[in-house]
Amino acid sequence: MCGIVGYTGPGNSVHSIIEGLSRLEYRGYDSAGICLKIDNELQILKKEGKLENLKKLINEQKPFSHTGIGHTRWATHGAVTTDNAHPHGNELFAVVHNGIIENAGALKKELLAEGFLFKSQTDSEVFLVLLTKFFKQSNNVLQSISKAFSTITGNSAFVIIEKASDKLYCIKRSAPLVVGDNKETREAFVSSDPFALIGFAPCIYFPQDSVICVSSVSDAEVSVNFYELDLKPSTRYKLQSNAMTMDTTTKGSYEHFMLKEIHEQASLIDHLAAYYIKNEGRKILDELKNLKTAGWHLTACGTAWHAGLVIKNYFEQINRQPASVDIASEFRYKNPILNKDEIGLFISQSGETADTLACQELCKERGIPAFSIVNVEGSTLFRNSDKNFLIHAGVEIGVASTKAFTLQVLTGFLMSRSIQATLDDSNLFTEIQLLSARIAELCSDTKLIKEIAQKIYNKKGFIFTGRGKYFPIALEGALKLKEIAYVHAEGYAAGELKHGPIALIDEHIVNIAIVGPELLEKTVSNIEEVKARRGRMVVVGPQNSPEIEQLSDHYIPLNFEGLPNLSPIYVNVALQFLAYHIAKLKGTDIDKPRNLAKSVTVE
Ligand code: G6P
Repeated sequence: MCGIVGYTGPGNSVHSIIEGLSRLEYRGYDSAGICLKIDNELQILKKEGKLENLKKLINEQKPFSHTGIGHTRWATHGAVTTDNAHPHGNELFAVVHNGIIENAGALKKELLAEGFLFKSQTDSEVFLVLLTKFFKQSNNVLQSISKAFSTITGNSAFVIIEKASDKLYCIKRSAPLVVGDNKETREAFVSSDPFALIGFAPCIYFPQDSVICVSSVSDAEVSVNFYELDLKPSTRYKLQSNAMTMDTTTKGSYEHFMLKEIHEQASLIDHLAAYYIKNEGRKILDELKNLKTAGWHLTACGTAWHAGLVIKNYFEQINRQPASVDIASEFRYKNPILNKDEIGLFISQSGETADTLACQELCKERGIPAFSIVNVEGSTLFRNSDKNFLIHAGVEIGVASTKAFTLQVLTGFLMSRSIQATLDDSNLFTEIQLLSARIAELCSDTKLIKEIAQKIYNKKGFIFTGRGKYFPIALEGALKLKEIAYVHAEGYAAGELKHGPIALIDEHIVNIAIVGPELLEKTVSNIEEVKARRGRMVVVGPQNSPEIEQLSDHYIPLNFEGLPNLSPIYVNVALQFLAYHIAKLKGTDIDKPRNLAKSVTVE
């Protein structure tokens, strides 16, 4: 969701803010803006559309300022227009916001009745107006921030600058926000993501909810101070060094981040296996040995939910432990039955997805342990979990998740295996090595997949089918295609096709069928059913299967041998490539598909 960056220091804030926003643009790209304190005035530059538009404006004006804030927007309240772009400012303050002010409508009515004026349709401006109102009453910035923040409901993060000083103020509730400083260069930063601060701030502070952070810079030092809402000093923050590196922020020789991230998967699998089986990660997995639970509650959103569906199979088939998987936005409102001897397992790349965090909170309130499979160390999910299983995917920039899925599933598999048996089993290591080798092989030659994409990309609709462990992959394959190619795609259990969706099949529809060596004959009959109705058939199936190959219009042969547990990951990589090449032919914005955001921090 929206990206936020703030800077104060001796340098030109514009450089760090624009660099930070460029790194965060994948979080939202409806509009972008910046507010700079120049000659004791707050000057706002903002533009509808991608960051590129704002950059052009900045290049024309070449502003210089020691203090500023910036924002890339993923619209929630108010259309995508330049007026609704952040920052929002007036004669006293400027504000950037990530999140939703739930009582904005009612507050705005009251403020309008009191004579306050609004320039945008956003909920964010309500915070600015409240802040201004309270400041006019008290002449005290901290008190006004505290009062304005206590008046609003919902999950939000704000960064505020004022005309009267070079301080950066920020505060949050259940939304990501970090403060960074660099003692050597005497610079202070704020961002919604430590990723924006790589190379700028070696130290990162993670404030807890409702802590007001004030960063200021003098000739001698940079200081960051924390206050409670009653304005007493606060110690509710964590200090951490920023260990991320810069090589993650470029595409290298790849045309898109998504393609780079697909290609990274083989080596990331090797690294993750080494981490959990041979290195530091082993300790946390060993703690799971013989773990007894009455059941697992897995919750997640989007691609992470699909990873949960694969992991559920591991808990049930390998451990014979019951596991349910819920979409986080459903779980939290369904008054779930949770018993103390069960475990909540939350899966998230970002660790900041609002609905997933709400499920974690719910489980904790009900007294059941919260485990997480998460990529971002230090994220809210990570910090609030009883046990974290990191997936070590590095930064994932492509909005459509690829490598995170692969490593989430692998982590879930390793968890399941460590409950059941020792990780020293050589078959386990062999299967993982085989997986990474097969993926590397797939990545080395994608000519066939490209050719198939060329033949089908103009079709009207796509139905992905799979059975058993490949059913979640059918869902994920369809999601990937929808996300980046903007075409209608559905994932179905192969046996369910005849209970409805088969009515859609004609020569304009493509059925992409995943056929594993398991239940092969059954799936073959499903293919026959589609062929009989003139549907175009793309099959991802076992190599050397002439019978199915003959039935298909296009065949992607895979070597399933030796992958009894991990073949879903392997098949999924083939579908990632197919979605990528279809999207390329469609000419869409693959890394930043329309209407989406990488990290959905609103409910
Ligand atoms: C968004 C992204 C998806 C992602 C989902 C869950 O919708 O576009 O790619 O799968 O959020 O995100 P998380 O960070 O919790 O894995």
